[in-house]
Order: sequence, then C-alpha cells, then structure tokens
Amino acid sequence: MLFDAVRLWSVDWEPGAWEMKVRIGLAQHKDIAPWMMLADEVTPLFGPMPDFGAVLSRKIAQKQAYCAWTSPARSLAGGIFIGGEGGTHRIRWLAVSSEHRRSGIGRMLVEMAIAAIPSDSFIYVDTFAKGTPGAVAADRLYRKCGFAPTEVWREGSLVRQRYMRRPLHPVELA
Ligand SMILES: CC(C)(COP(=O)(O)OP(=O)(O)OC[C@H]1O[C@@H](n2cnc3c(N)ncnc32)[C@H](O)[C@@H]1OP(=O)(O)O)[C@@H](O)C(=O)NCCC(=O)NCCS
Repeated sequence: MLFDAVRLWSVDWEPGAWEMKVRIGLAQHKDIAPWMMLADEVTPLFGPMPDFGAVLSRKIAQKQAYCAWTSPARSLAGGIFIGGEGGTHRIRWLAVSSEHRRSGIGRMLVEMAIAAIPSDSFIYVDTFAKGTPGAVAADRLYRKCGFAPTEVWREGSLVRQRYMRRPLHPVELA
C-alpha cells in the first residue's frame, strides 16, 4: 500500500535571511501546469519526453507522483514519479527546478518515494552515466539515499547508469 502523507521540512534557504518551508506530498491535477514548466526546464538534459502531460496525469491518478512546494511562495520546486509492483519498484522521473537545487529538496523527494514504496521491495533508478551531464549530482543524491550503482546499459546512443536500493526487510528465502 502506498504511503500518501504530506511531510513538512524547514530548509535554511538563505541563512539569516528567511526560512523557506518545503511541503512534499501527492501531486494533484492543479500541479500539472507548473510541473509541465519544470519538464520544459529539464528537456535539454533529459531529451524529448513525448506525451509527458499524459504520463503525468496518469501518475497523479495512480497516486504515484509526488511534488515539493515551497512556502510562502507556494511554487512547485520539484517532482518525482514512482512505479512498479511486487518486490520491484522504480523511480521513473525526478527533477528539482534550478532555482531550488542544492537545498535538500531532491533528497526529500527521494526519501518520500522510499517511504511510499513497500519496505521489502528493491528500488531501481536509471540515470545519467558517469562523465555525462547531470551524472555527478544524480550519483551523489542516490548514494546519499542508500542506492548503489549496478550495471551501465545502452540502447542505441542512450547510455544509462542503473542504481539499486536493497529492501530494508528482505523477504526470507525458503
Ligand atoms: C539531481 C537533482 C534532482 C538533485 O536535486 P537537489 O535538490 O539539488 O539535491 P539535494 O540538494 O537534495 O542534494 C542531495 C545531495 O547531492 C549533492 N548534489 C546535488 N547537486 C549536486 C551537484 N550539482 N554536484 C555535486 N553534488 C550535488 C548535494 O550536495 C547533496 O549531497 P550532500 O548531502 O553530501 O551535500 C537536481 O540536480 C536536478 O533536478 N537535476 C536535473 C534533473 C536530474 O538530473 N534528475 C535526476 C535524474 S533521475
């Protein structure tokens, strides 16, 4: 069963200036427009994402899309999709807007995804391979969240590094 609680974090945004609050929770249909702008922002890095709007709507309906909003401005700072079933789940999409990076939001989103996925499940994510744009940030983030790199896979010109997070409570083998 997926966990759909809302979590609140306080983030030191500009120390001494003001405190930004970040709220992470299930995305709703009203989040589609700002999420599409976030998708546009990361298209140069991710490449074209055909039918992204349809995928986003479906993920929201399936309660498999979480996003981060900031307050007091209430802007959408990032989003994540999860998917999978049984003992195998995946992080399928993750981005934080460039103005909100390096303040812990990516880690909060991944931790929310981990909390939403059954704890006896393996979690996989395919992301940028070493030496390609985006790889350093993704590698640091996923390692911090308990993932370890596994294989590198290629499909045509696409090269991706797979990361895996082991279950917290592995199912006992008979
Ligand atoms: C990857 C991404 C989601 C990270 O989000 P973020 O909110 O900036 O990450 P956090 O602030 O939570 O940082 C988590 C860890 O990664 C590190 N990190 C984040 N960006 C980094 C960068 N550019 N270079 C080096 N380390 C980086 C942080 O320092 C932190 O580690 P620390 O605790 O040791 O300091 C964000 O950079 C992004 O959206 N990039 C474009 C899309 C993308 O790459 N998505 C992931 C592909 S699946």
